[in-house]
Amino acid sequence: MMDKLLKVENLSKAQILDHVSFEMEEGEMLAIMGPSGSGKSTLLYHVAGMDQPSAGKVWVKDTEIAGLSEDKKAKIRLHHMGFVFQQMNMMANLNILDNILLPAIQANKGGGKKTRAELEAAARKMMQKLSISGLEDRRITQVSGGQLQRACICRSMMNSPEILAGKRTAGEKWHLLFADEPTGALNKKAAAEVMEVLVRLNQEGTAILMVTHDSRVASKCDRILYLLDGRICGGLVLGKQQEGMEKRREERVNKWLMEMGW
Ligand SMILES: Nc1ncnc2c1ncn2[C@@H]1O[C@H](COP(=O)(O)OP(=O)(O)OP(=O)(O)O)[C@@H](O)[C@H]1O
Ligand SMILES: [Mg+2]
Repeated sequence: MMDKLLKVENLSKAQILDHVSFEMEEGEMLAIMGPSGSGKSTLLYHVAGMDQPSAGKVWVKDTEIAGLSEDKKAKIRLHHMGFVFQQMNMMANLNILDNILLPAIQANKGGGKKTRAELEAAARKMMQKLSISGLEDRRITQVSGGQLQRACICRSMMNSPEILAGKRTAGEKWHLLFADEPTGALNKKAAAEVMEVLVRLNQEGTAILMVTHDSRVASKCDRILYLLDGRICGGLVLGKQQEGMEKRREERVNKWLMEMGW
């Protein structure tokens, strides 16, 4: 039995990723930083099993991803993972509520125990938590960038243990959120709001692996890895957030980034 949530070993992708290895603890919030084109998004896609590496292995809990059928991979993604990616893949022909419901409805297909009404209630609750209640019927073009990003986080959380509770046995209750630049398109205030939401979700037990260019965002994480030319060439351990330490953490991150050649 592996005690880690995630284990990445010598992951390589022709020309892009070069023997990347790292581990993630359960409940950890880990940021990946590095210059544009260094391979951060590619790494996220490969760790999530959405792309095939040229070499190396990824274990999620005790399961090696590459050895699984597409079907099994899709199942793990649907039941245990959430995605907030750069191109957010929200459907333009659906309203915000239906977009949020999409993965949960998929995950409940075939032997699912939750009714549409129950899922809808969970979606509305999540929207309330993220302060976007009232936007259910809007099209994705009719909300602000920050609101859309929060809707995207709602959607990515719809398969979390909290929401699908009762469907799993205790040992299977884990959730890993992948986020690629979750605050990338946002102004300072909206970015702070989204980060607050992510930190809260993490405190409630969701592990988060995120890519960010923003040192303030990274300073909210437990640990940061620095990727350069497809290789991990440094790390900074910050530990869980403590009240009143925000400035100090940000300074540490900025100093470290300078040393990394940022
Ligand atoms: N599907 C692909 N086929 C070939 N090359 C690709 C593909 N996707 C990305 N690349 C290349 O791989 C490198 C890493 O890209 P990636 O998107 O992972 O960078 P990144 O670190 O996320 O950058 P950014 O900060 O700009 O988002 C880049 O040189 C990019 O052009
Ligand atoms: Mg990227």
